[in-house]
Amino acid sequence: MEQALLFPNCVDEQREKPVNVASVPQRSPFRYPGGKTWLVPLVRRWMKSRSCLPDVFVEPFAGGGIIGLTVAFERLANRVVMVELDRNVAAVWETILGGEAAWLADRILEFNLTLEGVRAEVSKTPRSRRELAFQTLLRNRTSHGGILAEGAGVLKNGENGRGIHSRWYPKTLANRIRHIELVSSRIEFRRGDAFDVIPEYLGDDLAVVFLDPPYTAGGKRAGSRLYTHFEIDHERLFALCEQVSGDFLLTYDNAEEVVALAKKHGFATKPVRMKNTHHSEMTELLVGRNLDWIER
Ligand SMILES: C[S@@+](CC[C@H](N)C(=O)[O-])C[C@H]1O[C@@H](n2cnc3c(N)ncnc32)[C@H](O)[C@@H]1O
Repeated sequence: MEQALLFPNCVDEQREKPVNVASVPQRSPFRYPGGKTWLVPLVRRWMKSRSCLPDVFVEPFAGGGIIGLTVAFERLANRVVMVELDRNVAAVWETILGGEAAWLADRILEFNLTLEGVRAEVSKTPRSRRELAFQTLLRNRTSHGGILAEGAGVLKNGENGRGIHSRWYPKTLANRIRHIELVSSRIEFRRGDAFDVIPEYLGDDLAVVFLDPPYTAGGKRAGSRLYTHFEIDHERLFALCEQVSGDFLLTYDNAEEVVALAKKHGFATKPVRMKNTHHSEMTELLVGRNLDWIER
């Protein structure tokens, strides 16, 4: 998946080894703000460090779903459960995984993309879930930064001088959608609240939970511009993670208050450095019960 905030390289803080994101298969039809393509190699390492294959990989804040999709495609767990609260994003997953992938792929292929056409299409009231799915992907791939939250503008000048076409690759998108359908028997999608679903897996030793919540703490309000649903009780989320009897991994901005929250709950933290497209460095924080596998 292309990432709207573009982190093409991720560098392990201690190993100084850049991850080549171009080598990670792009499997999601979304270009998702805060997408985690850069984390794919580390999630593979995490799964392979385990003594047995997880029975279920739970991704409660799925968004563009690149991590869950990778786990399903690469059979890093027996099955994947993806959860998302946003009804527009959920419509895309429900359509692809619910038997209407071919319709969505064809709809994308036959759409003639013009600025006027996009404006007309996104102002319609969708009459079905699959129409909402198409409208959502169209908005996602023609808005600035892939942002779906209200107020996101359409790409007029676009990126690479290609205007509104700069992120709309009909054949590629149609193929990704068809490929996801091929692994749909291994993925369960649930539209809902992460806080309702996580408790179902707390006592399951063979469940692993990957959490990438919207982050709006610490005075950083980025999440509130990027997502329709961005208010999260982080303290409650950490408290739930403490009860996970299998394993979990959280990913956050590298902020002092997140480090403090992790410390309070007895979790390990590990900053991971990344370079964005402008070659400026940022760090993301991984939080888990035990992160020794990162060094292996
Ligand atoms: C940081 S994004 C996830 C990005 C994803 N990891 C990817 O690679 O595309 C967080 C997502 O959580 C969703 N979300 C927010 N609150 C939620 C909740 N209570 N339950 C489930 N999903 C929620 C948002 O709509 C957003 O899609």
